[in-house]
Amino acid sequence: MQFYTILSITALLSAVSAAPLEVRQSGYLPSGPELRYCANPFNTVACYKARGHANEASKAAAANFPANTLHNGKGDAFRHCYWNARMAIDIGVTKAKEIATRHEDGSTGPQREKTMDLANNETGRGVGVRTKTYGNALNECRNKARNGGLVVIG
Ligand SMILES: *[C@@H]1O[C@H](CO)[C@@H](O)[C@H](O)[C@H]1NC(C)=O
Repeated sequence: MQFYTILSITALLSAVSAAPLEVRQSGYLPSGPELRYCANPFNTVACYKARGHANEASKAAAANFPANTLHNGKGDAFRHCYWNARMAIDIGVTKAKEIATRHEDGSTGPQREKTMDLANNETGRGVGVRTKTYGNALNECRNKARNGGLVVIG
């Protein structure tokens, strides 16, 4: 029990400290639903992993796309695709979708940005299921982003 308590606290801190990334992107702050979800011992490990995948996806986006595309552009679309692909590979589609959805509940960004993220998240989970490896998922999300296979604004 103590082990899970420590995991829960770790996941809560992770969720909070992951916030600045999304604050830059869309005014995100951790939502009540997300904090409660991550505090559940059955979900804490997945939440912790999700944060690591967010970091990897951000790094890959910055390495593969121009800085001016990282908000709403192709780089942003790629990031959501690859983030969700990695989560689908690591923790499965169901948990990946649960985390993506609860995270979004706390977002205050414009509706068209949510619609864009939602579509690219969904595409990314499909990519993860199909490709099964992070490397192949990165390639497929990158190709989609470059060739109009993901949703972008502006
Ligand atoms: C897309 O997935 C990411 C990662 O879980 C999440 O932060 C974001 O809120 C999701 N967006 C939507 C619209 O579901």
